[in-house]
Amino acid sequence: MTVYADILTETHGRVGLVRLNRPQAMNALRANLLAELLDALRTFDADDEIGAMIITGNEKAFSAGADIKEMADASAVELMNRGLSDGWHRISTIHKPIIAAVSGFALGGGCELALLCDMIIASESARFGQPEITIGVIPGAGGTQRLTRVLGKALAMEMVLNNRFLKADEALAHGLVNRVVPVEDYLDEALKLAGEIAARAPVAVRLGKEAVNRAYELSLAEGLAAEQRAFYLLFSTEDQKEGMRAFVEKRAPEWKGK
Ligand code: CAA
Repeated sequence: MTVYADILTETHGRVGLVRLNRPQAMNALRANLLAELLDALRTFDADDEIGAMIITGNEKAFSAGADIKEMADASAVELMNRGLSDGWHRISTIHKPIIAAVSGFALGGGCELALLCDMIIASESARFGQPEITIGVIPGAGGTQRLTRVLGKALAMEMVLNNRFLKADEALAHGLVNRVVPVEDYLDEALKLAGEIAARAPVAVRLGKEAVNRAYELSLAEGLAAEQRAFYLLFSTEDQKEGMRAFVEKRAPEWKGK
């Protein structure tokens, strides 16, 4: 497995785990960390032995956002040429499900990274926020769009314009996270969920993720048409035949990912 400077990678059965690993900087997302994260996610995405992934930080910080020290003196053009927004976009092109296991601070780009994931398991200490306004900017990795779609305009405005943090229970109440568990359990809970999904029919999981994500991009009619095509496509897989045969024969299916 590749040795990285800013992240650690592990596998747990069919789950690929990425730990953001700059604890001295609250896991600030410097360019190198983002490049390594993308490389690790792509490697897991291409590996048939992996069915789902987790991104996590440590108990105190999932991530405190983009590296302020790295970007403080950059010009607009330098920032644009660094291609960071391409990196963020590429994370959203990963096919397999990604779960964010969040404890402590998920701020700025850290909150946006969690939002880029498909599901979020939060510890009771998780805090979500977009504090960019306090340093004279706004979210730059999707926060104004993805938060607004999940939380609605009123709360997103308060977070973006006035640094309103969401505690874990508020995030749960507003549908930002899947569940909240005690701090000592959040990674195990994420591993359990990822493990269950990784054991399911791989092609159906991929197309299911794609179809749900399309709900954010397309009109209802276009989204429904895309869903129908994906549904029909699954009838060309061996796993569909196996899944339905196993149901009729009252046995567990054996997935091939074909
Ligand atoms: N960038 C760079 N360094 C950071 C950082 C960041 N985003 N967040 C924390 N650090 C560093 C601190 O500078 C400090 O380093 P030193 O020990 O060298 O001084 C170290 O991490 C520990 O941080 P604190 O001493 O501040 O720890 P704390 O417990 O007192 O506070 C915190 C924690 C509330 C998360 C605070 O660090 C903080 O407010 N961080 C910045 C959060 C922020 O503004 N994020 C938005 C970034 S911009 C962005 O993300 C744009 C985008 O949309 C892509």
